[in-house]
Amino acid sequence: MSSNPRIQVRNYYISNRANQISPSGIRKFFDLVTTVKGVISLGVGEPDFATPWHIRESAIESLGKGYTMYTSNSGMPELCQELSLYLKNNYNLEYNPDSEILITVGVSEALDLTMRAILNPGDEVIMPDPCYVSYDSCVVLAGGIPVMVPTTEENHFELIANDVEAKVTDKTKAILLGYPANPTGAVMSRDKLAEIAEVAKRHQLLVISDEIYAKLVYGVEHTCFATLPEMKESTIFLGGFSKAYAMTGWRIGYAAANKEIIAAMTKIHQYTMLCAPIMGQVAATEALKSGEDSAAEMVKDYNRRRLVMVKGLCDIGLSCFEPKGAFYAFPSIKRTGMTSEEFAERLLTEEKVAVVPGSAFGQCGEGYVRCCYATSLADIEEALSRMKRFVDKYKTK
Ligand SMILES: Cc1ncc(COP(=O)(O)O)c(C=O)c1O
Repeated sequence: MSSNPRIQVRNYYISNRANQISPSGIRKFFDLVTTVKGVISLGVGEPDFATPWHIRESAIESLGKGYTMYTSNSGMPELCQELSLYLKNNYNLEYNPDSEILITVGVSEALDLTMRAILNPGDEVIMPDPCYVSYDSCVVLAGGIPVMVPTTEENHFELIANDVEAKVTDKTKAILLGYPANPTGAVMSRDKLAEIAEVAKRHQLLVISDEIYAKLVYGVEHTCFATLPEMKESTIFLGGFSKAYAMTGWRIGYAAANKEIIAAMTKIHQYTMLCAPIMGQVAATEALKSGEDSAAEMVKDYNRRRLVMVKGLCDIGLSCFEPKGAFYAFPSIKRTGMTSEEFAERLLTEEKVAVVPGSAFGQCGEGYVRCCYATSLADIEEALSRMKRFVDKYKTK
């Protein structure tokens, strides 16, 4: 028995902020998957490819040379320069590599730093519902208030500018966008994004644009938000290497923004993270220098899988809006009469297929499940046939 009676009081030492957030609904299923044998996972949003060999080799070589130290807080100058070049070549955007780019531990850290750098207690951040699981929690952890804007399948899960404007108050600080989207696979057109930019301009709001899936688009163009007229100065552009180059484990992301914002983020980063891992930074530099072909090959492969997944889901009778980006399909499971949590749990126990309940991504995700198709075609086909058996058993309409 502890001599400290406070230990007996559940949650006594846990901060209100930590108590306010819930564990990620994605991880819960991931943990279940690892304990059940023979499961096909359409759960975690992770490429099934290993990082292309030439990228791994560059890191191995750097280890041989003894590159095992800290880097500068902002990141290796060579990587910042490559990124600056990349943003210029791809989007015609000029970011000073010395002051307007910060290398982070994945986009995850960049999101956290962004919120902590810009929010005062009670500041509001507008975001789509459903959205990536970290968005609202990062805002809460920074003392802010997430304000959700419902999006619907009928509108292809795009954020509608009027709906955003209706949520603006005198506490609103920023709009957080993540397109191509996790969990829906939605991509927003340049015109629709321009309408959101108008709202941001009218109310002098920042826009945080998480473009981690920028390269993963199928038959449509990705619009980089900062390229919209007059938006560069008030956009915090977040990008990363995890998805496009199959580099989830290397933990490298970045933020590009005006120098005041990057300086504020860098202060927090230098006291909490110090720097992103050097090995990952070396690998990311190589990815930018010569990873384009391998990234494009992976995108071609995802596209083949996407088509099989979407057609398969529709054939089973789970209506599925066509995702044009990322590597997720987001079918409706409403006809089974189950909640998305029930559907995911029963599908896992009865047919050993793991999907993530849409409700893990917000209230508007209820009635849907997220199926990640970054897995082999053979597994996708087998998962679909198991799902067909399951849906046939339960469908009510
Ligand atoms: C939309 C979105 N943003 C950010 C992240 C985090 O990525 P990273 O591995 O760069 O931290 C993910 C990961 O799934 C994501 O889907």
